[in-house]
Parts: sequence; C-alpha cells; structure tokens
Amino acid sequence: MRFAPKKHYFCIMISSFGTQLELWYESHGRELPWRKTRDPYLIMLSEFIMQQTQIVQGTSYYLRFAERFPTAASLAKASEDEVLRLWQGLGYYSRARNLHKAAGKIAEAGCFPRDYSFVRALPGVGEYTAAAIMSLAFGEPYAVLDGNVQRVLARHFGITEPVDGTQGKKLLRALADELLDREHPALYNQAIMDFGAILCKPTTPLCDTCPLAETCQALSRHQVDRLPVKSKRTRIRDRYLTYIYTRTQDGKVLLHRRGSGDIWQGLFEFPLIESGEPLSVAEAGRRLRAEWQVPNGRHALTLVAQGVCHQLTHQRLHADFYCLTLPSACQDVKGLWVEESDLDRYALPRLLEKLLEEKR
Ligand code: ADE
Repeated sequence: MRFAPKKHYFCIMISSFGTQLELWYESHGRELPWRKTRDPYLIMLSEFIMQQTQIVQGTSYYLRFAERFPTAASLAKASEDEVLRLWQGLGYYSRARNLHKAAGKIAEAGCFPRDYSFVRALPGVGEYTAAAIMSLAFGEPYAVLDGNVQRVLARHFGITEPVDGTQGKKLLRALADELLDREHPALYNQAIMDFGAILCKPTTPLCDTCPLAETCQALSRHQVDRLPVKSKRTRIRDRYLTYIYTRTQDGKVLLHRRGSGDIWQGLFEFPLIESGEPLSVAEAGRRLRAEWQVPNGRHALTLVAQGVCHQLTHQRLHADFYCLTLPSACQDVKGLWVEESDLDRYALPRLLEKLLEEKR
C-alpha cells in the first residue's frame, strides 16, 4: 500500500519533512560511537545492544563488545557463556544469544552480505533492525520504523488509527517508505530516530522549539499527548520471588542454572522460591528445605532486602532476598556449590545483581 495523501498540503509536508529533519539532525544529532563506522557487523552489534536500552548504558556495553569481539568471526568463536557474561546487566538475554548465533551465520558466509533477505533472516533481526543495518552500513534505501518513528509520524501527520493495528501499521509503513530520503537513507534514518528520542519524546515533547511545529497536525489539533494511539493494552503479570543466598562458613555459595521455557534461560541464580504472594520467613525456610533440600532447620534466614521491584516487558517481579549461612556444603542439595569469590564468573540476571548490591 502506498501512502496516498489526499490534500495538496500533505504533499508539501512530505517533500520538506525529511529536509527539515536532516537540518535539525546536523546541529542536534547525537555523536555515538557506532555512527563513526560503516562496518555492518558493528552496526548490527549496536542495534542488538540498543534495543530496550538507554544510550548511556548501551554505549559502554557497545564499546566493551566491540573491543573484545571486533569481528563477527571473533564473536562466533566465543562460548555462549562468555557472551552472556559480557552481556550481564543489559537484561533480555535472548538478544545476546541471538547476536551470538547471528555472528555464527555471518562468519559462515565469509563476509557480511549486502543482502536484505540474508540480514532479515538472521536470528533476532526483525524488520526494524534489518532496515537499520541495510541503510546505516550499506546506504540502501530501507526506512526504519520503530516506536520513536511511529510516534513522530503519528503526531506529525495526525494519524489517529492505532499504530499497533493492521490499518495503522500499513499506513505508517507506507508513509515511512514515502518519506525516506532515498539519496541519504542513513542520514534520514538517524535523523528521525534522534528526533523521536530527543525532541518528539513520549511525554513532555519539546514542541516550543520544534522545527516542524508549523506543519505538525497533532500540535494544531491539540492532540500531541493523545498520539500515537495504541489499541492493545499489554497485560502485566505480577510474580513474587524469594531468593535465598545460601552460603557456607568457608565461602561457598549455592547456585542453580535456569532452564528453558521462562525468563533468564541459561542464567544462574540462588535458590528461588516462587509464590503467588509475598512469603513469610517461616514459609520461605520450609520451602527451602522441601524444594532445595537445604538443611536449614537450626539456621536463621536473615532478611537483606524486601519488595524489590523489577520490571520486565510483560512481567513485574517482586523480590525478597534472604541470606543463610550453613556450617558446611552438604552434598545432597539441588544446585551446585561454587566459590563465593568466583561469583562474577557466572552470568546472573540484573535483578540478582541489584539484590547482591543490597547485601554488600
Ligand atoms: N536505538 C536503537 N538503535 C539506535 C541507533 N542506531 N542510534 C541511536 N539509538 C538507537
């Protein structure tokens, strides 16, 4: 479907939209390390890292990854555990696993093919990431359409269809393709992404200083805070997790590796008891014996942190954190005993890092 503006006015808006964005970007765009390269592997790396990540945090991870794994082949050769350890703290570990697998495919191909179908078929690469790689690395005319771009377009062109509905998606895709500066796709895509992130923000957009204010439909109709419209309300599930940091007097800690089919696949954690509501200390102790075979009968659980909230995309985790010290490492427990001093060799979920910070 092509975006078919009915009014002459829309044609003028479309023709000057990209130029104004690019002009704005020249003086307000962010200088980011992956913008200094056209290496498709490094651009892919930055896109994997930047999904659902703040710029400041993402930048330090990008620099570390790019230094440790400067090529797809070097990343492909690493073990998954090493990749997960370097990823630790970024969350959403399936991204790290997909990045590792994608590097394997690129290494197998010998070089990074300049081919949309190949890029789009890489594990973890959706339409947005494929368009970003093709345009930023190869200068190919693919328009990016992520949440930032959706917001800019829905507001500027006054699109009231839900952006996550079939019609809204089609309309935005057609509009995004129409607006793309085909001569300078990299410049245009970066300009619209930064414009959405810095100026046309979800809340408190900077309309007073916006260079596109004159033609912004949402602004003239007083709809800025109502656009974009979303139809789906994502249901958030609450989960209650009680972690028991179980250690011995001679400095061993009980760890467990998470299986598949739930969050944090393959990461390590301390003995966990999950419940539909917060647990009392007595119940936590009883379930620790029953579910983990930890003989904690005479030993007290010490509360370290309570009600720590951790938000994932569709889940809100509420965690209590206890510490338990046993005289020695009994062997028939569930899990494995590791040296406390070696804990940083194991990839832990971000929530557990937060809980450990409370303990220190
Ligand atoms: N977020 C996702 N991709 C990005 C990019 N290339 N630049 C800035 N922020 C981003």
